[in-house]
Amino acid sequence: MERKYKFDFELMDGLPEMCFVIAKEGAILDLNKSAVSKLKLEGKKLTDINFYELIDETLRLKTVKWIQNCFNDGKPNNIVSRLTSGKISLDVNFYLSNFSNQDTDNIYYFILAKDITEEKRKDIDLLRYSQVAENTVNPLQITDLNGKMVYVNKAFIAACGYTREELLGKNPNVFSSGKHSKKFWARMWKIINEGKVWVGEVENRKKNGDPFFTQILISPILDAEGKVTAFFGIHRDLSEKKLLEKQLVHTQKMESIGTLAAGVAHEVGNPLASISALVQVVQRSTNDEFIKEKLKLVKSQVTRISKIIRDLVDFSRPSNYELQMTDINQNIREAIEIIKVGAKAKNITFETSLNDLIPNLPLVADQIQQVFVNILLNAVDVIVEVHKETNRNVIGVRSDLDDDQLIIEFYDTGGGIPEENLTKIFEPFFTTKKEGKGTGLGLWVSYGIIKSFQGDLKVFSKVDEGTTFRITLPLHP
Ligand SMILES: Nc1ncnc2c1ncn2[C@@H]1O[C@H](COP(=O)(O)OP(=O)(O)OP(=O)(O)O)[C@@H](O)[C@H]1O
Ligand SMILES: [Mg+2]
Repeated sequence: MERKYKFDFELMDGLPEMCFVIAKEGAILDLNKSAVSKLKLEGKKLTDINFYELIDETLRLKTVKWIQNCFNDGKPNNIVSRLTSGKISLDVNFYLSNFSNQDTDNIYYFILAKDITEEKRKDIDLLRYSQVAENTVNPLQITDLNGKMVYVNKAFIAACGYTREELLGKNPNVFSSGKHSKKFWARMWKIINEGKVWVGEVENRKKNGDPFFTQILISPILDAEGKVTAFFGIHRDLSEKKLLEKQLVHTQKMESIGTLAAGVAHEVGNPLASISALVQVVQRSTNDEFIKEKLKLVKSQVTRISKIIRDLVDFSRPSNYELQMTDINQNIREAIEIIKVGAKAKNITFETSLNDLIPNLPLVADQIQQVFVNILLNAVDVIVEVHKETNRNVIGVRSDLDDDQLIIEFYDTGGGIPEENLTKIFEPFFTTKKEGKGTGLGLWVSYGIIKSFQGDLKVFSKVDEGTTFRITLPLHP
């Protein structure tokens, strides 16, 4: 059934959108109230305005071309453009449709222009915020009410080592390190569910199992009615801080142990010397075999204690020795020769790669050698213990220059050191060896000696693969 309507354009005055009827060359035949008021055209004569001139200059050519095309093919269409009039500038979406005037057979265009200025501004704001969120150095995450992650930014991905795909839809408990109690998390949920902000320091786990420490601020995202719709978490990476703290604690611990040891060595050393002297006196003045035999035992125990005391003193007072220009490479070779004499080193291959350009350094040669020997002896011990039957028995030493420091690395193919022991091995009396086999002072003394020369001693180890000790010494102390 064919329908024909004829209606007054004034009907369009009820619409919030701007409406126009134009002829092909842009003459405006009609416009509604919205158009007049939004473009501030009050008091202007229609004949004075050309529709095309209302289109923003920057978009005019493109828009006019598009309108004219629509005139030609006659299909309804829409385009985003901008209308300007005086100081007014409005982003609009044009909807076009043509119709013919029955009286004249002329083709006209009905144009509806929807003001999208506000929407566009919101879009741009949103784009800006999302760019800021995506590119900030702080890891960010948004979690929905079911506790599923719905957004994570680049920094977050970098911090935890998972991909975005692996994280979205998951609960953040994939990062759980198990270090925090159920109560800790329950309290957090209680606070944020009440619409309040929660801040806490958290130890998480990366994909590869490494810890990552962050301070998290979790804040609820509220809708217009103040209802919680999601949670927003911003992290501050504390890994660096934790690492420094750990190193500082370690250094301070070593220092205070050093002070303590010096005191103990002094206090124990003197009475020990008396005991030793008394034992000798009694030994000489008795013929009783039984007593003589027991005194021999006492003496051997005293000798053992004396050695420990000497080690303690070594750690605490290395600066008493005189410095002499020391050929490090020569010193390393000698240390290896000393080790090779031992029966345990029989099946071990020693390899060296020493940089000949290393200058002589002002050190105490005996002490440096003691460090090398300590480290090599440990390597021999661990290889003998682990690789009795295999032939992967290698101990190597590298020396090299790097900027203004000297690097010496001792590596072995022994059983490695479990992570939890990595800092403990430098503590005095820490040993994993059987009773009577090790006192646990070797590395502690070595650490003290290297530190006294303003150097550093570090360990890198992987269980079942081997261990590397790296000594750095300044070339210009
Ligand atoms: N190359 C290594 N490979 C594996 N573990 C090592 C290595 N070097 C040291 N360790 C570990 O570190 C511990 C401490 O070493 P340290 O030299 O201080 O003491 P020790 O060898 O046990 O005793 P001491 O050297 O006083 O006789 C060792 O018991 C061992 O567990
Ligand atoms: Mg040792």
